Amino acid sequence: MNLPVSQLRAWVEVDLSQLERNLHAIRAALPRHLKYIAVVKADAYGHGMAAVSSRLMRAGADLFAVANLSEAAAIRELGSGWPILLLSPLLPTEVRAAIGTDVIPVISTLEEAKALNEAALRSQSKLRIHLKVDTGMGRLGCWHTEAQALYRQLAQLPALQVDGVCTHFSSADTDPEFTRVQRKRFESVLQQLKPAPAAGCILHADNSAGIDTFPKDGPLNAARIGLLQFGIKPHPGSLLEQVSVAPVLSFRTRVGLIKKLPADTPISYGQTHRLPKAGRIAILTAGYADGIPTSLSNRGEVLIRGQRCTIIGRVTMDQTIVDVSQLNEIHPGDPVTIVGKDGRESIHVHDFCQHTGQIEWEFFCNLSKRVTRQYLTGTIARP
Ligand SMILES: Cc1ncc(COP(=O)(O)O)c(C=O)c1O
Repeated sequence: MNLPVSQLRAWVEVDLSQLERNLHAIRAALPRHLKYIAVVKADAYGHGMAAVSSRLMRAGADLFAVANLSEAAAIRELGSGWPILLLSPLLPTEVRAAIGTDVIPVISTLEEAKALNEAALRSQSKLRIHLKVDTGMGRLGCWHTEAQALYRQLAQLPALQVDGVCTHFSSADTDPEFTRVQRKRFESVLQQLKPAPAAGCILHADNSAGIDTFPKDGPLNAARIGLLQFGIKPHPGSLLEQVSVAPVLSFRTRVGLIKKLPADTPISYGQTHRLPKAGRIAILTAGYADGIPTSLSNRGEVLIRGQRCTIIGRVTMDQTIVDVSQLNEIHPGDPVTIVGKDGRESIHVHDFCQHTGQIEWEFFCNLSKRVTRQYLTGTIARP
């Protein structure tokens, strides 16, 4: 059911023209030859796969990266021609389906490659793959000292074509030194590959924070951009400060009820807060089932009528309680900003996450299905 905004209890506003501006700003900060791989897994970091991906297609993304086949199929419905990388390993039961989905699996082992090769041979097709190299992430990829041998074995599999080679940084947002170590290992793998990757082969390592250490004259020709395109810098205060992006998403709820209560009234489950004096509380129409974690109990803030109000008591499944004693005016139905701007005040995702102990990626992924996505679809002039 499509409700008018005035009836929404929890919603996010996604500013698609800001998303487009962000893509242009990121591109402008990177070498011109670089391909832009838009990472849109997990429902485009909670912003909504269809609206975000189609806007990124129009804005100039070169490739897309997802985590599973249904995400790939959702992008394919929006437009043909964009290569789609599947970043997570395929399950054995998905191999056949992958061949028909026009997706590019990223593989780590000879076993995965052989299974794909056999399936592709059976369907008489040629399948593009990217080889992933583990340079210190300790997750996907073949260990970097074994990459050359695997690459040679892949060349023997007639139905596969290695269309890209990649790695992933473990600490690009916290440890530029180790990122350089990983980058060096990857570059040395690329130098040793025989036969040398063809001219069109896509060589990529960097995520949003990685591009902070991107050498302009290095061998890489693509970057995988997730968080940054949504306007969030993975580590404020870095070189990325030069990239002028702004948040795309605001998270809002409403005042459901307002009550006056006497001093010493316990608030919410577990009585973790007692009103120090007589005051007024507002009960908001969103809780942890929407994406306000219980770690904000007795510590987070929201904005109502441009003023900061503190969360008191435990956040519950469908409601959150705030102290509104200081507000001169407040009415049921008033909008409440959990993340975003209201007048001169704003709550940034970084502030929210400092209170919750989450990482920024997690905040976006925890915005639940029940939170309606509202799209602002303005156009922008091309820079
Ligand atoms: C393999 C891989 N590459 C790139 C990204 C994008 O990272 P970021 O959101 O920091 O840009 C991710 C995100 O999880 C990832 O898993």
